Amino acid sequence: AGVFTFDPGFTSTASCESQITYIDGGEGVLLYRGYPIDQLAEQSNFTEVAYLLMHGELPGARELDEFDWTLRRHTMLHDQFDQFFRGFRRDAHPMAIMVGTVGALSAFYHDSTDINDPEARTIASHRMIAKMPTIAARAFKYSTGQPFITPLNKYDYASNFLRMCFAVPAEEYEVSPTLARAMDRIFILHADHEQNASTSTVRLAGSSGANPFACIAAGIASLWGPAHGGANEAALNMLREIGSVDQIPEYIKRAKDKNDPFRLMGFGHRVYKNYDPRAKVMRTTAHEVLDELGAKDDPLLQVAMELEKIALEDEYFVEKKLYPNIDFYSGITLKAMGFPTEMFTVLFAVARTVGWIAQWSEMIEDPSQKIGRPRQIFTGAEGRDYVPLSKR
Ligand code: CMC
Repeated sequence: AGVFTFDPGFTSTASCESQITYIDGGEGVLLYRGYPIDQLAEQSNFTEVAYLLMHGELPGARELDEFDWTLRRHTMLHDQFDQFFRGFRRDAHPMAIMVGTVGALSAFYHDSTDINDPEARTIASHRMIAKMPTIAARAFKYSTGQPFITPLNKYDYASNFLRMCFAVPAEEYEVSPTLARAMDRIFILHADHEQNASTSTVRLAGSSGANPFACIAAGIASLWGPAHGGANEAALNMLREIGSVDQIPEYIKRAKDKNDPFRLMGFGHRVYKNYDPRAKVMRTTAHEVLDELGAKDDPLLQVAMELEKIALEDEYFVEKKLYPNIDFYSGITLKAMGFPTEMFTVLFAVARTVGWIAQWSEMIEDPSQKIGRPRQIFTGAEGRDYVPLSKR
């Protein structure tokens, strides 16, 4: 027995020391290794940000070249790996496919699973970051019945991914620079977010010394939920349900009703009690993409913009500091780019893999690291004697 601090949802417990990501939720600040998220989203690219998160510093030109080349070289999947996809039903949720297939990577790369060997950890990290877009695109292609598109390493990370998702073998595919830039930005904005549920899951799983590919699969499982990564999918489904601008007041009323479980998806955040700085960048990107695609008149977008306006002025949302979060705008953008809602969380997983890996490595390298083992406040039955079935 013992006396433990009761902190459901870990709202006030720091589970680790970390040097990777800093958030000031009250001020709406998000820094990766000290650099503001808006500067990175506007001036950097995902590969450079991945290097920064993993290594702590921005790379020099040669380091970036080498890192970029290494990632491009690891994009292929083992030929036998395709059989995993074919075992799923065509209508399987792509996040279910991700959990299964990423976990299965652990069965393919025995040379990179010795977590005590720094070189093996590095190779495992590169493999995961590089293969994630290929796996995600295959999950998408599988659901449409189209043939898989092999990665082409002349393309950058985001362009390669878009091509693997949207190219068909019979036709030329030109990657739109605006869409590639938007994809890259979405990846940057989602790359890390300190000790959120999925990252904590990766750390907890990894703290036992488990296989790194399996730990990332655990992170994907945690990310799937609608209160976390699944919110972008839930936000778009909600916009569809609302359907038209005249329905908005009814849904705002429901969101405020304590007896109604309905929440405005894409609003609110555990940490940000000010405008989510990622949402600001994402809002601009959403408009750029919609302009490029001529999708400004999309009725869903109109519902979204009106909902945003009403909620930002509504007393309930103002008082509770509920602002639109990144998922509100990323959902609209991804839909316009041609991704089905089921893919939204998958794209989040592709990006967050970098954060998961950086956090996992930091934990493994931390000499104070221990197996994660929360305690509990026991509220169950007191000790009692077993009663045989005939006497119950
Ligand atoms: N709509 C209506 N009311 C809300 C909402 C919402 N979206 N979010 C919070 N509230 C209310 C909630 O009812 C509660 O009211 P009261 O204090 O009267 O009981 C108060 O605001 C505080 O909410 P909470 O659930 O205690 O706060 P939390 O920190 O546990 O939850 C959250 C944060 C993100 C789970 C929640 O805001 C939510 O469910 N939002 C919708 C889902 C969503 O968009 N999630 C994406 C988060 S960003 C992406 C990511 O990091 O994964």
